[in-house]
Amino acid sequence: MRKNIVAGNWKMNCTLPEGKKLASEVIHMVEDEVKNDAQVILIPPFIHLTGIHSLIGSSNKVLLGAQNCHQSQSGAFTGEVSAAMLVSSGATHVILGHSERREYFGETDELLAEKIKFTLENNLTPIFCCGEKLEVREANDHERLVSLQVEKALFNLSSEDIIKVVIAYEPVWAIGTGVTASAEQAQEMHAFIRNHIALKYDQEVAAEISILYGGSVKPENAKEIFSQPDVDGGLIGGASLKSRDFTNIVKAFD
Ligand code: PGA
Repeated sequence: MRKNIVAGNWKMNCTLPEGKKLASEVIHMVEDEVKNDAQVILIPPFIHLTGIHSLIGSSNKVLLGAQNCHQSQSGAFTGEVSAAMLVSSGATHVILGHSERREYFGETDELLAEKIKFTLENNLTPIFCCGEKLEVREANDHERLVSLQVEKALFNLSSEDIIKVVIAYEPVWAIGTGVTASAEQAQEMHAFIRNHIALKYDQEVAAEISILYGGSVKPENAKEIFSQPDVDGGLIGGASLKSRDFTNIVKAFD
């Protein structure tokens, strides 16, 4: 179901006290100041999920997500976390296929297809990340690469299931670099992804899917990026660690 979403990916940052402080500040500011109905998702490290879930309480604006999960229900996978565990800790969303997972942990689109199927079976919403590296953009090969990522990870899903997925287009060259894609570049790729889905499924299915932009989103550029017709919000890294900046990004939808 297409919604406006602002998700804060904390990555491997914040001790538990720091994370609780950050989450409380965001929850209060969002409750007090935000007028729009965007979904706000806090995505801390696994170990903070339950602590932050109790701070979120019954807020209907702020939800909880995780940064990854394993593709099996349970078993001998030391150090891994399952979708059912995340749900039982209060998470409703999980990021899958972040470029850092692809780059440093060797995650492939084939593996991500398994993870996505499994999270959906566990009623957890995947936030599937795709996006090209700088050399691919410079070779003007970004549309082909992103369409392959989307096809391999998502196109085995039924229409009923693919509309439950949130997609995050995150050009790798914009992540943590301070270089943001221009609003036109973001819109162009989001429209391309949506059209690619429409060709495989249909227009109604494509119109139902939230596509977020990620990569150096800040309070200063959020409004322009989010106002593009095919951009339904953002996946925010660095700026999600500052409660004021993150809340101001959510307020870009006001
Ligand atoms: P950034 O990270 O906002 O710090 O560029 C985005 C992301 O990695 O999701």
